[in-house]
Amino acid sequence: MRCTPLLLGALIPGVFGFELPFGVSRLFSSKTAAQTGNGNKPAATTTSRIAIIGAGAGGSSAAFWIAKAKERFGIDVEVDVYERSDYIGGRTTVVHPYNNKSLPALELGASIFVKAHKHLWRAADDFNLTRRSFNENDYDTGIWNGEQIFLQFGGSWWDTAKLLWRYGLFAPKRTEEIVRGMMSQFLGLYKTSTLKWDSMLDLPPYFGWQEHLNITAREFFKGRGVGERYINEVIQAATRVNYGQNINYINGLGGAVCMAGMGATGIKGGNYLIFAKFLEYSKAKLHLKTTVKSINPTSSGTYNLKSTRGTTEYKAIILAAPYHQSQISLPPGLSSQIPKHPYVNLHVTILTTTSPDLNPAYFGLSKGSKVPKVLLTAREGVDLGNPNTPKPEFTSITYHGLVQENEWSVKIFSDDRLSDEWLDNMFQGQVTWVHRKEWQAYPTLPPQVPLPPVKLDKGIYYVNSFEPYVSFISTMDTETLSARNIVDLLLNDHFDSGICGPTAKTTPPSINEASSAQQPLIERIEASHISNSTTRKSRNVDDEDFVYGFDC
Ligand SMILES: Cc1cc2nc3c(=O)[nH]c(=O)nc-3n(C[C@H](O)[C@H](O)[C@H](O)COP(=O)(O)OP(=O)(O)OC[C@H]3O[C@@H](n4cnc5c(N)ncnc54)[C@H](O)[C@@H]3O)c2cc1C
Ligand SMILES: *[C@@H]1O[C@H](CO)[C@@H](O)[C@H](O)[C@H]1NC(C)=O
Ligand SMILES: *[C@@H]1O[C@H](CO)[C@@H](O)[C@H](O)[C@H]1NC(C)=O
Ligand SMILES: *[C@@H]1O[C@H](CO)[C@@H](O)[C@H](O)[C@H]1NC(C)=O
Ligand SMILES: *[C@@H]1O[C@H](CO)[C@@H](O)[C@H](O)[C@H]1NC(C)=O
Repeated sequence: MRCTPLLLGALIPGVFGFELPFGVSRLFSSKTAAQTGNGNKPAATTTSRIAIIGAGAGGSSAAFWIAKAKERFGIDVEVDVYERSDYIGGRTTVVHPYNNKSLPALELGASIFVKAHKHLWRAADDFNLTRRSFNENDYDTGIWNGEQIFLQFGGSWWDTAKLLWRYGLFAPKRTEEIVRGMMSQFLGLYKTSTLKWDSMLDLPPYFGWQEHLNITAREFFKGRGVGERYINEVIQAATRVNYGQNINYINGLGGAVCMAGMGATGIKGGNYLIFAKFLEYSKAKLHLKTTVKSINPTSSGTYNLKSTRGTTEYKAIILAAPYHQSQISLPPGLSSQIPKHPYVNLHVTILTTTSPDLNPAYFGLSKGSKVPKVLLTAREGVDLGNPNTPKPEFTSITYHGLVQENEWSVKIFSDDRLSDEWLDNMFQGQVTWVHRKEWQAYPTLPPQVPLPPVKLDKGIYYVNSFEPYVSFISTMDTETLSARNIVDLLLNDHFDSGICGPTAKTTPPSINEASSAQQPLIERIEASHISNSTTRKSRNVDDEDFVYGFDC
């Protein structure tokens, strides 16, 4: 998610950012994946085939992880990637102003990641992609509540001081501690070469996070001593901009993760370039503009996958798209396991404008007043029991810098479509180009979500099971993490291997064990992996050896 780096940069200086991953010993069974209707692919008689559905973060990285295993252990497997649209990246994609590729690429979906996103960070290095800073423009930030911009700040120490005065020193510090603690726990997942989860039910006990998912973000932060005002004004702005959701609705994890956002970066030219590189590296066969229609088990334990290109038999299938949006028909025994989870319907409007400022009149300011170029929103009136408080017409507006001389790009998130007239008023008649996209962006995050399975059955796995539940951090990177877990499971199930060689599934610690050991999770992982007294005792998330899977 986009996790308000500016806001958090000013308020929580210490929080690291979080805007939030093969050898086969021997050959698989020689059961073959015969081609039954695809004239486009060579008939395989001795090679196992795996299908990946979706060429977004999840699907492209799944192909990459399989390729790693292939290269390490010589697994004889071929991978086909099916993608309904005509591009790689899914919810990670760019547009160019005027569709002119000489002008800068603007992210239409996922825009930022941070150093804690270990896989993306490492991939950018390995593929020689250029990271660009997202905080290049030191714009002022304001928070709008539908009636007034009640809070405005820039990056100076004085502004920060004023904020601390408003909220008290305690709130930001307390929030920082909470978020930092949860983050380092979460990052353990990148490292454990042993933990595999084939059910999302394994994870909350592992982290000791059962309660976080049962309560709202408001209850969560309140129960941990964060002040009401800070919750209403600041945390709320962050959850709204990141998840488009109100703090009384989003669960505790969602709220906590939103508060971690700093050091944001993106890939020059577009984050999707990482996923294009994953696929290129994997040498998987990519079928763009190919929709998967149905998947059916065969009597020999394989699956028949029917797409707009015909039917092909696969040893295993990785579904890397939100199931209920994929319109794939599965046998009832499989589909019934996946709870229908609502996604946030988000309107993204990207435009260019020659207006250096937003219209002050819209915000009730006098002519000539400068409106902050980054506006977040809060609904503290509603939260405080006044339902008549007007609803802001947008969730966030952000100037993103110049695309060419005297012409800025701006991104707006909103619940509803913004009309041309609305834009014209906001940018004082100076809109030069507009692109609108309505996304099913990310799962809603209410407390007590039902949990989808990771492995639907032998040989069929669901990457996006990670989203609704761990959507507390549903990001590009967590999808690569989920894909890594799944590839590991798949290879263990079918090839007696893993991304880094064979590994047994370990049972995560029990609820009691985990909750009594909440903080020390990282240390527990350390302990299990490092028993050498010459190694450092404690480490932090910046340590490079979290990149399990890239190196083993
Ligand atoms: C506006 C917006 C802002 C965001 N901001 C951030 C951010 O700043 N940082 C961050 O890390 N994350 C962010 N996210 C979330 C991030 O985009 C997602 O978590 C991630 O991209 C999901 O990747 P995925 O591969 O799981 O799914 P997707 O990217 O949705 O990929 C699924 C693919 O499957 C294809 N598909 C679906 N059905 C079929 C079918 N039947 N046959 C063939 N193909 C099919 C789809 O076309 C799609 O390409 C944002 C999302 C949005 C929408
Ligand atoms: C695209 O943008 C470049 C750089 O501003 C410009 O020189 C060029 O004329 C534009 N191309 C078109 C087709 O408008
Ligand atoms: C990245 O650049 C380095 C140094 O220039 C080079 O050795 C390496 O092969 C490049 N890697 C890729 C994937 O292009
Ligand atoms: C969370 O809610 C579930 C379902 O209501 C309940 O069974 C469980 O005990 C709760 N867990 C905690 C830690 O509150
Ligand atoms: C500790 O390090 C030494 C020297 O590098 C090595 O010989 C030994 O095997 C290591 N022990 C463990 C448990 O890894």
